[in-house]
Amino acid sequence: RKPIIAGNWKMYKTRDEVLSFVYAVNEKMPSNDLVDSVICSPALYLRDLVKRQGSNLRIGAQNVHFAEEGAYTGEIAPKMLVDAGVKYVIIGHSERRAMFNETDESVNKKIHAAFNHGITPILCVGEMLEHRENNQTETVIKEQIVKDLEGLTAEQVTELVIAYEPIWAIGTGKTATPEVADETCGFIRETVKELYGDVVSEAIRIQYGGSVKVNNIKELMAKPNIDGALIGGASLEADNFIYFVEAAIQE
Ligand code: PGA
Repeated sequence: RKPIIAGNWKMYKTRDEVLSFVYAVNEKMPSNDLVDSVICSPALYLRDLVKRQGSNLRIGAQNVHFAEEGAYTGEIAPKMLVDAGVKYVIIGHSERRAMFNETDESVNKKIHAAFNHGITPILCVGEMLEHRENNQTETVIKEQIVKDLEGLTAEQVTELVIAYEPIWAIGTGKTATPEVADETCGFIRETVKELYGDVVSEAIRIQYGGSVKVNNIKELMAKPNIDGALIGGASLEADNFIYFVEAAIQE
């Protein structure tokens, strides 16, 4: 599986900072294409980034609406992302589920909408601390996967990227140990296998996300079930981002 490193910038950076980042990254980006590198920026900067992306950088959005178009004030339709040259979209991030009322049902609709427009979804799933402490991690994650993937074809699930992001590890500095991260990514792969069979589950790429830093990326990437990382805070610096891409190539 080709590793995939994605930066999730959340609601950070001014336009000047975005431009400095992309120039710096273009200069240092490895010239081989052994890894997919993606920056998911605030919607306002997507076109700026697409215009300047080097050959080994792709741009993703952090959200999309599921409708074709319509009276949805403040929302962005899938075809608008296509117009802007966006190739990926994060769907169902835990911050959106917790703060913007996203449900598995809306997440599922958004995944279908993205695929209908040729955009690759990065689906986020993950448990809360209390789930992990009460041994409910697998139940919670399985329920998310089953509902979020409903109605997708095997070809679509092969293309999909899943990011395993334990909620207790996001922005907290508490990374899941590489063993725990790998075990849960393995469980996600097993669940995909039950739903779609061997070939799809071996092909699908599963990222780990949650306090990934330069000092833990290598041990995470070395694990067999982890095919990449979705990185928040640490992806805001160009040098860090390049480090993550290089670590993904090496491991
Ligand atoms: P973090 O965020 O790397 O800052 O923990 C990860 C994410 O929310 O995708």
